[in-house]
Amino acid sequence: MYVLGIETSCDETGVAIYHDQFGLMGHCLYSQVDMHSEYGGVVPELASRDHIRKLVPLIKQVLQESYLKSNDMGGIAYTAGPGLMGALLVGASTARSLAWAWQIPAIAVHHMEGHLLAPMLEKNPPEMPFVALLISGGHTLLIQVENIGSYRLLGESLDDAVGEAFDKTAKMLGLGYPGGAKLSSLAKQGQPKHKFPRPMTDRPGLDFSFSGLKTFALNTINASENTEQDKADIAAAFQNAVADTLSIKCKRALQQSGLKKLVVAGGVSANQHIRATLTEMANKEQVAIHFPRLEFCTDNGAMIAYAGCQRLLLGQQQDLEIFARPRWPINDTLTAS
Ligand code: KG4
Ligand code: ZN
Repeated sequence: MYVLGIETSCDETGVAIYHDQFGLMGHCLYSQVDMHSEYGGVVPELASRDHIRKLVPLIKQVLQESYLKSNDMGGIAYTAGPGLMGALLVGASTARSLAWAWQIPAIAVHHMEGHLLAPMLEKNPPEMPFVALLISGGHTLLIQVENIGSYRLLGESLDDAVGEAFDKTAKMLGLGYPGGAKLSSLAKQGQPKHKFPRPMTDRPGLDFSFSGLKTFALNTINASENTEQDKADIAAAFQNAVADTLSIKCKRALQQSGLKKLVVAGGVSANQHIRATLTEMANKEQVAIHFPRLEFCTDNGAMIAYAGCQRLLLGQQQDLEIFARPRWPINDTLTAS
């Protein structure tokens, strides 16, 4: 079955086609980053309008590049939440209308389930059960994954998500939006001289808190002479603190669950230092670790096509309602039948 996947939850329009036997047939992505960077962050109304402009041309492009036609499609998967309501509605209403016109089922996909399953698109996909660390701009989640739709929340951020802390710290350092990747490149030229805290690691539990790191960064910036070298040193110290904190919590989650497999996904999993720190921990713990390829760490249509295909194969689908939920807990998705 060919499944068309549509992602429009924030500032990226992603479209892909996945086949349950042949794998990923094609995918394309349009990023709105240049448009939003002028404003220092995502402007929701502009995001929705741009998704409207780009979505249908991208669907046509993916079909053409995959040498497929609309009547080859067996289902349509779309991101139904969490995300910006206007942006979600563009994807949801387009997907629902096409599914109705093409007389095929449509399935609503949770954006973080898409991220969670992105490593399944790689050559040696992890087998369930496993522990997953999802680190994106809006979420920081530690999850025990038993099966498609069977997700037990082990821990989450009580305040800022990791990506949000990266973006806000980058802004303080005078880097543009979105700052995560820029902060990471700057950190390469720095030495982690400042001793940042490793929040909530001195007490039991698997929750996170990153807003204190951001404040610590601000105080350190204010106390420095703000030279380029100072900025790079602060970026390196911040990044180290985030990587160590994530590593300590993942190790704890693996020990508590007794599982020997760790999946790391979401935009921040593109960070090379975080990848290296978590890989080192996993090697020491003799745990297998899986990441998506770099282009599927951040938002994309391929992960939505994959997740939707798995759910359609389980016999799930949406009725004619246009289903969009800006806030949607991951453990509240439909459970596998
Ligand atoms: O998953 P994603 O594309 O969108 C959301 O679902 O939020 O994640 C975007 C987040 C942004 O906060 C961005 O700054 C961060 O991922 N990010 C990074 C890197 N690449 C993207 N953060 C740190 N290092 C990176 N290399
Ligand atoms: Zn995302």
